[in-house]
Amino acid sequence: MNTGDDTDLEDVLGGYAERISGALDTCSIGSPAYLYEAAQHPIRAGGKRLRPTMLLLVAEALGADEEARDGILPAALAVELVHTLSLIHDDVIDEDVLRRGEPAIHAKWDTSTAILAGDVLFPRAFETLLKTDVSADEILVCHRTLLRACRQLCEGQALDLSFEHCDSVTETEYLEMARLKTGALFAASARMGAVLAGHDDRTADRAAAYGRNLGVAYQLYDDVLDLTGETETLGKTRGSDVRQGKATLITIHARRHGVDVSVLANASDTSDEQLISELESSGSIAYGQKRATEYARTAKEFLAPFPKTTATNHLRGLAELVVNRIQ
Ligand code: IPE
Ligand code: IPE
Ligand code: MG
Ligand code: MG
Ligand code: MG
Repeated sequence: MNTGDDTDLEDVLGGYAERISGALDTCSIGSPAYLYEAAQHPIRAGGKRLRPTMLLLVAEALGADEEARDGILPAALAVELVHTLSLIHDDVIDEDVLRRGEPAIHAKWDTSTAILAGDVLFPRAFETLLKTDVSADEILVCHRTLLRACRQLCEGQALDLSFEHCDSVTETEYLEMARLKTGALFAASARMGAVLAGHDDRTADRAAAYGRNLGVAYQLYDDVLDLTGETETLGKTRGSDVRQGKATLITIHARRHGVDVSVLANASDTSDEQLISELESSGSIAYGQKRATEYARTAKEFLAPFPKTTATNHLRGLAELVVNRIQ
């Protein structure tokens, strides 16, 4: 797992993603075959592998050498398995049929299979975590960290669902939901990277704060991309949030500025372009982008005491990339 010292961010991320994808292949093999085929479907379809990459980059920034990073790879895989299971269930909840450019499991098989495929990846994730080549104490800390993130992710998803078609959701409520549904797993990934590189609570807390803020930035920008991205590039259907009546910072801002997104979205003669144009005129899309950039900036601030290494610079670069991406 050589990410090199002088390689640019894109190469580093590509290198980690490739290593993670290769190793993921063996994490979900079992019987009955159809269940594991379904579970492997979104894993094989790809994905950016951002959370496990961040775990490994944090560990690298905090001194884990190549051999140590090989030993902690299973922890990174565990994070990606949890993320994948959350996407499988998220597509059932959001009634989305396209994921990572492929049919979602509930569309290719059925909802029962999607529920079970998501469920089976949960124990698979924790079995994989136990293969991490570190002390039992460190594994226990990671186990606790990842379990808490799973719980918070579910709590965030439940809030997200309860905000659908509700036009009194506040920014504070939305941000708490994003912190739980997306920030929690980012925070856990960064924390695990620090713990597995042998650091104490103080450094692990800083790493987690970096991850949490990055996760919120990521979700805010995901909400922007849901409107401005291309289905082809995103690998998921553009406009899903509006169709599903989701509350986002963009819709909350729009409402404050007199734009009724739900009326617009439900009118049969409103095109995607018209909707986007309304949300651009009210400054709502720019507002979502601005808040995402602020969270990414806050994330970077938590890196200040980290060693001044290339990997720490890559973590800064990652924060910038998250709010300047097209997929
Ligand atoms: C999608 O996550 C879910 C969100 C938190 C927005 P990613 O955008 O990281 O999805 P993949 O793993 O690259 O497919
Ligand atoms: C994030 O929310 C989902 C999870 C945290 C699992 P979204 O519902 O916005 O994610 P996408 O856009 O479907 O990937
Ligand atoms: Mg979704
Ligand atoms: Mg969702
Ligand atoms: Mg989304």
